[in-house]
Amino acid sequence: MEIVTRRGPKQLEAAEFGDLRARYSSTLIDLGTGDGAWPRRFARDFDNCFAVGIDPDRSALREAAKLAERKPARGGAPNALYVAASAESLPPELRESADWLTVYFPWSALLRLILGGDEQIGELLRFLCRPRSRFSVVLNAEAPPDGFEPPTPKSVRESLEAPLTAAAFRITQADWLDPDQAPPSTWAGRLVKGSGRAMISLDATR
Ligand SMILES: C[S@@+](CC[C@H](N)C(=O)[O-])C[C@H]1O[C@@H](n2cnc3c(N)ncnc32)[C@H](O)[C@@H]1O
Repeated sequence: MEIVTRRGPKQLEAAEFGDLRARYSSTLIDLGTGDGAWPRRFARDFDNCFAVGIDPDRSALREAAKLAERKPARGGAPNALYVAASAESLPPELRESADWLTVYFPWSALLRLILGGDEQIGELLRFLCRPRSRFSVVLNAEAPPDGFEPPTPKSVRESLEAPLTAAAFRITQADWLDPDQAPPSTWAGRLVKGSGRAMISLDATR
């Protein structure tokens, strides 16, 4: 699969990815990671975990990789990795690799799939997630895509119930999220904390 390093794109074989994962006790996958700040912060906080950020925007991932590849004393995280891919075409190497899948502030197609409760969400979870894994999504409640009403915790729960059940996940909570509970991602800081926009979080376990 295509990973992005500070020097640019690089191919990582399935066996190499497996070896990397095997060094750590669990794997976080952050889908639509943007500038990759959240998986880098998580990797720094939990150096026994592997953190993988996925995004189709290679230039953002390259900046992410530059920060992650710094020395740990200067903010780097050797246990963070960035994969260039979109949710619709994930590389086979990622199959059943996530112990925790996060999707923070998705937009465009991925947001439409979530709000519409599309069965592709179930397929995505079945593909990416390991047994006994966790799925967390945080949405900006005030920026619905065209054709959608502003979501509420109830509407997000109702939309995701069927695709999550199909992937053997059980929703454990869906609620408004206080700003001080926002995940440490860049969009949380920029779009929501700064302007006080309403956020919805949903968690599910398998
Ligand atoms: C609003 S940003 C959120 C970034 C990050 N999660 C955060 O909280 O800071 C949405 C991200 O989703 C990515 N994205 C858009 N379409 C995507 C897709 N089909 N699959 C995966 N990521 C996608 C964009 O490139 C962008 O980086």
